[in-house]
Amino acid sequence: MQSNQLLETFENYLNTNLAISNSFHPIFQDALIEMLDAGGKRFRPMLLLTIVNAIEPLLVKSALPVSLGLEYLHTYSLIHDDLPAMDNADLRRGHPTLHKTYDEVTAILVGDALNTHSFNLIANAPLHNDVKIELIKILSSDGGIEGMIIGQAIDCYFENEKLELNQLEFLHIHKTAKLIAASLKMGAVIAGLSLEVQDKLYQFGIDIGLLFQIQDDIIDETATEEEAGKTTANDGAKNSFVNLLGLEGAIKSADELSLKCENDLKVFDKNIQENLNTLLSKYLNRHKK
Ligand code: IPE
Ligand code: IPE
Ligand code: MG
Ligand code: MG
Ligand code: MG
Repeated sequence: MQSNQLLETFENYLNTNLAISNSFHPIFQDALIEMLDAGGKRFRPMLLLTIVNAIEPLLVKSALPVSLGLEYLHTYSLIHDDLPAMDNADLRRGHPTLHKTYDEVTAILVGDALNTHSFNLIANAPLHNDVKIELIKILSSDGGIEGMIIGQAIDCYFENEKLELNQLEFLHIHKTAKLIAASLKMGAVIAGLSLEVQDKLYQFGIDIGLLFQIQDDIIDETATEEEAGKTTANDGAKNSFVNLLGLEGAIKSADELSLKCENDLKVFDKNIQENLNTLLSKYLNRHKK
């Protein structure tokens, strides 16, 4: 399947499998699906599906609920990230954030629901149980206290306190890169790739994830809210790459990392290379747009 068809397949699957909360709550169901419906790049599910599609295209269908689980967990992290206690942002995916449209309680609970439901989606996927346990291990670790959560905790705790360069790397690897690396690895697990290739894809994903966050920090500095679809100029107190390296320094780092990623891609088999190349060509130089 072509990369654009794969994205279309994912979007169709998402639209027909939006989480349902059956109750007499007047707004919870609307709030639950609002940010999933609002769009986004779908980068993490596409990483997973791209690997499966490259190796075992017949398994793409069975991988869809897992890829949706990744998008649910990521979307929850954004909803919580925007809360007043965290980044206090008003705009996300071109829409007012949930705590603005509804209230903080709703935003917190929608985040909780999407987090929990991501594991429900994986548990119910038509895959072997041992594969599903492995997937749940990876997502709960890289999206949890060994990954995104500790990254977010450090990101918020150290506002207005400058971190050392190695701490900065730790922060961004955990906050962003691990979930991106996990997406590739989960694809590799579903496709039945060897532990060695799983590991290589994970390490490659860490670099791609770091690049992604450097670019995100550049976007915060240089893009308008309309362009970004989210609140920008919001990183003033953060240990962002732009604040620590300067805009020029951050762009230079992104350039270097982008080149490294292009080169590192060459260690993978032709079909992985070609499929990832098509997806990543949209991302590797995103900071130059
Ligand atoms: C934003 O993620 C948060 C980061 C980890 C940088 P994305 O840029 O992937 O956001 P969406 O999913 O496209 O909205
Ligand atoms: C958030 O990083 C990373 C997450 C784990 C959600 P940012 O705070 O920089 O993401 P944006 O810029 O608000 O999307
Ligand atoms: Mg944040
Ligand atoms: Mg934020
Ligand atoms: Mg940001």
